[in-house]
Amino acid sequence: MGRLYNRNVLLGVTGGIAAYKSAQLVRDLQEAGATVRVVMTRGATEFITPLTLQALSGHPVHQELLDADAEAGMGHIELARWADLVLVAPATADCLSRLAQGRADDLLTTLCLATPAPLMVAPAMNQGMWNDPATAANIETLTTRGVHITGPAEGSQACGDVGPGRMQEPADIAAAAQALFAAGQLDGLQLTVTAGPTREPLDPVRYISNHSSGKMGFAIARAAAEAGALTTLISGPVALETPESVNRIEVSSALEMYDAALAQMGHCDIFVGCAAVADYRPVESQPQKIKKGQETMQLELVRNPDIIAAVAAHSQRPFTVGFAAETQDVLDYARSKMHKKGLDMIVANDVAREDGGFNSDRNAATILWPDGSLEVPLTTKGELARRLIDTIAGQRRQQAGKVA
Ligand code: PMT
Repeated sequence: MGRLYNRNVLLGVTGGIAAYKSAQLVRDLQEAGATVRVVMTRGATEFITPLTLQALSGHPVHQELLDADAEAGMGHIELARWADLVLVAPATADCLSRLAQGRADDLLTTLCLATPAPLMVAPAMNQGMWNDPATAANIETLTTRGVHITGPAEGSQACGDVGPGRMQEPADIAAAAQALFAAGQLDGLQLTVTAGPTREPLDPVRYISNHSSGKMGFAIARAAAEAGALTTLISGPVALETPESVNRIEVSSALEMYDAALAQMGHCDIFVGCAAVADYRPVESQPQKIKKGQETMQLELVRNPDIIAAVAAHSQRPFTVGFAAETQDVLDYARSKMHKKGLDMIVANDVAREDGGFNSDRNAATILWPDGSLEVPLTTKGELARRLIDTIAGQRRQQAGKVA
């Protein structure tokens, strides 16, 4: 899996003969894992058709500053926010000059100004133009502003000259783009996380459940995807949006969650059980709504299977991480759960606290593993999730080191 996995690359193509190489560049960026969208200047369309780049990128090619189809008519702002990297290749001498001046009179230059993402340019021009002091000054200005310059290469040019100014080969540009992004800690690994509550039906309109909102599990899914893992989120019923690049499987009851989790075995490297799974379910779910009758009624419940214990006992067991929601003797109970369920790690959280736990945006926890622990003071669930992903990555590395 390439370092551009989960990354959005906005490829700007300007009007130079090297524009024909942009088609291969789209492919190379996709090969590295990126989602690519293309913006072309009017000049670029003289060298390569938008249709070619649309077909290769799988997305419409953007050309106009004012886009009536975009929400609020501001396609440039939407694109600028979408991008994780804006890459201009080829970048002509004119384009470099316009970027250095901070012009905003076409779509490409406008979104280069508007984007919070890093900007990389791959210059492509005749050697005389590249050697001209005006171009050198523009390059210096752009470098000072933090723009990444890749190339140019030297060699024979389309005009017959020989010297510096050729656009780098697409594979080299894609490699330079990848180098901007640190390798994800979980690159190439598959992670499954369960989230939210389960619902155990009593009849068609009633169920037994709990207060889990799914926030903690969804934050873990987001952090895992950001760390490069191919992430599957098995979620009970919650009202949350699926994090980007995460594959969501919706379930309702503990039995459904059990089936979905066990179906991941064999292609799952890390399993995190964050869901608040009901320990018991009604022995029978009545087919019709239960009618009011006597003053009291008794419910007969049966134990649900323990999902995470089954995952940890599986012949193709992943690195298995549980959560322990406790209201007293938090660390002792959590450690004993880790041993009983055969886990590699457990996150102990005190759900009696008013400032964390169920349905809160924040949480404090202690991450425990057989020979160590990490206390994470009250913070956002997003930050706790990132700390957990870091810790999981570190412990897996250590385990691999012991095996080797
Ligand atoms: O969803 P939020 O509102 O953000 O709240 C987050 C949370 C409080 C739900 C979360 O941080 C948490 O603590 N989740 C675990 C809750 C829980 O059920 O803990 P437990 O101690 O009962 O279970 C221990 C572990 O066994 C958990 O990993 C649980 O997923 C797993 N389990 C439990 C029962 C069961 N039948 N199967 C399981 O896999």
